[in-house]
Amino acid sequence: MERTFIAIKPDGVARGLVAKIIKRFEQRGYKLVALKMVKPSDAHLREHYADLAGKGFFNGLIEYMKSGPIVAMVWAGENACAGGRMLLGETNPQSSLPGSIRGDYSLTIGRNICHGSDSVESAEKEIALWFGKDEICDWELPV
Ligand code: CMP
Repeated sequence: MERTFIAIKPDGVARGLVAKIIKRFEQRGYKLVALKMVKPSDAHLREHYADLAGKGFFNGLIEYMKSGPIVAMVWAGENACAGGRMLLGETNPQSSLPGSIRGDYSLTIGRNICHGSDSVESAEKEIALWFGKDEICDWELPV
């Protein structure tokens, strides 16, 4: 089953959007297999965003991600990476359609509420970075 890593960033937590975001993933039919609230270290965040290290906004991004707790999750289901990003909307909220999480709740790319893996390969890397194997609870609905 495909898995994706979804994080509710400090602005999403502070604005009380945790339950609303979880609800959208549950409603769509994805299965929650891991969830925790964390304040990751500087080094952890720099590793998570390593591919953006050369960007002018990089240090600001790391400070933003350290500004409060993050809700880190793993969701599983058919096409979870692309489908999860569809629920989140575009990285830049200005390009996000109403109905998507960013399209409904955010205005600027520097405060875009949530993160979602952009491919199956990054999802597996991100899941391994944020969660230990014993923190993933795979489960099936009883028949
Ligand atoms: P995310 O989906 O977590 O992936 C990379 C993050 O970098 C992105 O969301 C934004 O939070 C941030 N980001 C990307 N582009 C910019 C930008 N031009 N200015 C500020 N932050 C950005």
